[in-house]
Amino acid sequence: MKKLIAGNWKMNASLAGNETLVNELRAGIGAPACDVAICVPSPYFQQVQGLLAGQDTIVMGSQNVSSHESGAYTGDVSATMLKEFGIRYAIVGHSERRLHQAESDTHVAIKAERALEAGITPIVCVGETLREREEGMTEFIVKRQLAAVIHLVGHCISEIVVAYEPVWAIGTGKTATPEQAQEVHGVLRTQLRAATEHADKIRLLYGGSMNAGNAAALLAQPDIDGGLIGGASLKAADFLAIIAAA
Ligand code: G3H
Repeated sequence: MKKLIAGNWKMNASLAGNETLVNELRAGIGAPACDVAICVPSPYFQQVQGLLAGQDTIVMGSQNVSSHESGAYTGDVSATMLKEFGIRYAIVGHSERRLHQAESDTHVAIKAERALEAGITPIVCVGETLREREEGMTEFIVKRQLAAVIHLVGHCISEIVVAYEPVWAIGTGKTATPEQAQEVHGVLRTQLRAATEHADKIRLLYGGSMNAGNAAALLAQPDIDGGLIGGASLKAADFLAIIAAA
């Protein structure tokens, strides 16, 4: 399956910095073997849409989507609004939002459903904390998080992307070993196979301190179909090296 490398800029952007980064990516990307997305902060959608104009190699994603369709939800951004700016992917359930915005499994599942309704591919993040891993809870946690989405979106589950991001590996420099990541990806694949006959077409991304040095080994695992890249997506040379490894 064609891999997907998605950059998650998180809350790191500026008009000048975006222009430099996107122009460097455009200049260096060539014809990659994988799909490529950059998930940018919402105030910059229009700017980045303009910077990406005239090519379709790099597409734009959002880092969140509202669980509501429209109305009195101050500060929310709906899936139909995202669609107007050419957004193709929406990250939902990132651990930073589960933690800081107290997003529940159900809330995340509704967001995934809203994205799908608008024709946007949700990148559903799952992952355990260090404590949960040490307590032997990893499988239970990721399956519970994914089950909420499977339950809500039904047969549309084949249209999502899943990102396994062990919380202890995010922004810490501690990457899961390829074997640790594959073990969890295998669990997720098995869970998806029980839900849909198309499970083998669902892309399972790994995220958590993926960089130019470790990407190839992670991406060589049978059930790792791409990466969700934080810090290393902010430097064109690093992000391009990961894309080249995919
Ligand atoms: O969404 C991306 C992940 O949180 C990974 O971030 O590559 O900075 O560890 P990181």
